[in-house]
Amino acid sequence: MSQDLVSNRTTDANSASVGFADVKAAAERIRSFVHRTPVLTCAAISERVGCNVFFKCENFQKSGAFKFRGAVNSVAQLSESELASGVVTHSSGNHAGALALAARMFGAKAHIVMPSNSSEIKKAAVREYGGLITECEPTLDSRMSEAARIQGETGAVLIPPFDHPHVIAGQGTVALELLEQVPELDMIVAPIGGGGLMSGTCLAARALKPEIRIVGAEPAGADDAFQSKNAGKFIPQLAPDTIADGLRTSLGQLTWPFIRDEVDEILLADDAATVSAMKFFWERAKVIIEPSCAVPLAAIFHRFSEARCSDSPEARPQNVGIIISGGNVDLQALPWLNL
Ligand SMILES: Cc1ncc(COP(=O)(O)O)c(C=O)c1O
Repeated sequence: MSQDLVSNRTTDANSASVGFADVKAAAERIRSFVHRTPVLTCAAISERVGCNVFFKCENFQKSGAFKFRGAVNSVAQLSESELASGVVTHSSGNHAGALALAARMFGAKAHIVMPSNSSEIKKAAVREYGGLITECEPTLDSRMSEAARIQGETGAVLIPPFDHPHVIAGQGTVALELLEQVPELDMIVAPIGGGGLMSGTCLAARALKPEIRIVGAEPAGADDAFQSKNAGKFIPQLAPDTIADGLRTSLGQLTWPFIRDEVDEILLADDAATVSAMKFFWERAKVIIEPSCAVPLAAIFHRFSEARCSDSPEARPQNVGIIISGGNVDLQALPWLNL
């Protein structure tokens, strides 16, 4: 594993590992706290890509995103005294709301460090779930130092957004459920930000169906996983430029090896294609999704129009599962209104 990572990793996660047994244990642990989200299909989309597409709808998860699974799996493993000290994280997005809600369920305080430019809707969600927001400069350094200060002052336990075994195991329960619901999948597609969702997806999907094709999707303006995989070494995301706000971050120390070793292919989508896919999904599936999870949809729209020309069975799956990772979108600032 590369030693030159510059992610926001935590020290306690570094030496630990995470396996499929942890995903199964997480599924048991969080069962009574999470929704078993539905799998939807949309004839217009299956027709457009030329195969059966199944959407695992984590936009219907508590807090509106899959992030709740990792957050609640982490909080549920804290001791009484750790819960009494509370939890802390830094996040501009869905992990913030997810952790605030998970902490509230366990009677713990949640200190959430949010960059001053975080969206109002995401700040409002954190407040609604009882999270205590500390605003900071919109830089990784500022986020990390504020979180460290709060940790030092309160003894709160740091729950990072993706690079932690408990978070990864929780996120893996999405693919575990999806493969129980649709065992015939031969391809599974998920977005990649820090890589927690994809790492958990790899654990569950490879264990349950070793031959399944695992495909990641990234914005063209934040393609660090794509670049890293092509180069065979970790390349950080330095200047992300995309509307998909959940996918701007670099991979982490635990998540990069999953991307490197288990993901078969990473597809890219530019923001225009992402907005168009998001709008198509709203119109045709009648389901609200946020830009970060329209990226996989945009990517497969593009990929499959190319694949139609190919006879390779690998390029032409029959049954594709796409993880719809979240639905938290600011209705006052819909991206197509700015086009
Ligand atoms: C809706 C949504 N999808 C995907 C991701 C990416 O998840 P990960 O950082 O685990 O790769 C995020 C991260 O915040 C998200 O909010």
